Amino acid sequence: MADLIAPYPMAADSSSQDLDALVAEARARFAAAADGTALENEKARFLGKTGAITELLKGLGKLDPVVKKSEGARINVAKAAIEALLTARREALANAQLEAKLSAEAIDVTLPGRGLSTGGIHPVMRTWRRIEEIFRSIGFDVADGPEIETDWMSFTALNNPENHPARSMQDTFYVDINDAEGRPLNLRPHTSPMQVRYARMHAERMRAGTSGMTDIKVIAPGRTYRIDSDATHSPMFHQVEGLWLGENISFADLKGVYTAFLNAFFETDALSVRFRPSYFPFTEPSAEIDMRFETGPLAGRWLEISGSGQVHPSVVANFGLDPQRHIGFAFGSGIERLAMLRYGIDDLRLFYEGDLRFLEQFQ
Ligand code: DAH
Repeated sequence: MADLIAPYPMAADSSSQDLDALVAEARARFAAAADGTALENEKARFLGKTGAITELLKGLGKLDPVVKKSEGARINVAKAAIEALLTARREALANAQLEAKLSAEAIDVTLPGRGLSTGGIHPVMRTWRRIEEIFRSIGFDVADGPEIETDWMSFTALNNPENHPARSMQDTFYVDINDAEGRPLNLRPHTSPMQVRYARMHAERMRAGTSGMTDIKVIAPGRTYRIDSDATHSPMFHQVEGLWLGENISFADLKGVYTAFLNAFFETDALSVRFRPSYFPFTEPSAEIDMRFETGPLAGRWLEISGSGQVHPSVVANFGLDPQRHIGFAFGSGIERLAMLRYGIDDLRLFYEGDLRFLEQFQ
């Protein structure tokens, strides 16, 4: 827009009328400038290097000194007037811009709130916490350990023979990294390795047998992994391991502890517990714990709830303890299974689908 910044056409000598007209012209042009860029272009027309005022001031040199003084003063008055108009217009434009921005970004405080919904504890976590609380209340410590395990911890230390099916690729996930013995690490298929980890950590004080410190009494809840997936199995699931080892801990203690746990967990005394012979490499004898509700929708049916047994002497030896002195029991229960029985859920996959219609029922 070359013509916009062309100097205002005016002779170098100026009458007072010309100067008034110049100021009026500036006022009109500045007012017409719709934005900052247009305004700065208009400014050049009057105050720029070849602008009208600048040209008038340049022309003063040719004048007689007396005339020059009064002319100079008059031009400077006009110049100051134009500068004041320019500043006023700049401010007006800036204010208008701010106003526009504020109204564009206005917040309507009368709109209803977005109604942030509250989060909740997942039913599996809820069950996990509940199990911890109950076992703590009957004197058990709670331990946590790695989900990626060595072959020795998951199998060998637990008296699991090399050719046992639990070792086969069919149900154990392996990691592409070898442990110090050159065997691939695994995603632990059960929480039982925590028996070994915890017992080995406490073997020293167990051997010392300081009074009141002769027992290991721990649960270890956590995630476990198997290549298995249907209505009652998920490749990732949760177990709680239990271990009570001392100098005189028997199956009677197992039955007492586990029954007390079930009574507290299901909030009823109206249930029966039975042991059914079974096999696990790390226990001898081994048993499945079954329970039966005497009332309610599941009443009268025996339900398998946990594996258990007396800790095998070879496993006690792998704890770093003397099987002649230390004896006790262990159990391993599925947390989802307990949650399903407590809440009456018939498909385990519901826990992992993340469907809020399902999850919200537990809040
Ligand atoms: N680890 C076994 C499993 O995953 C469960 C189990 C059975 C744990 C007997 C025990 C036990 O501690 O004594 O099937």
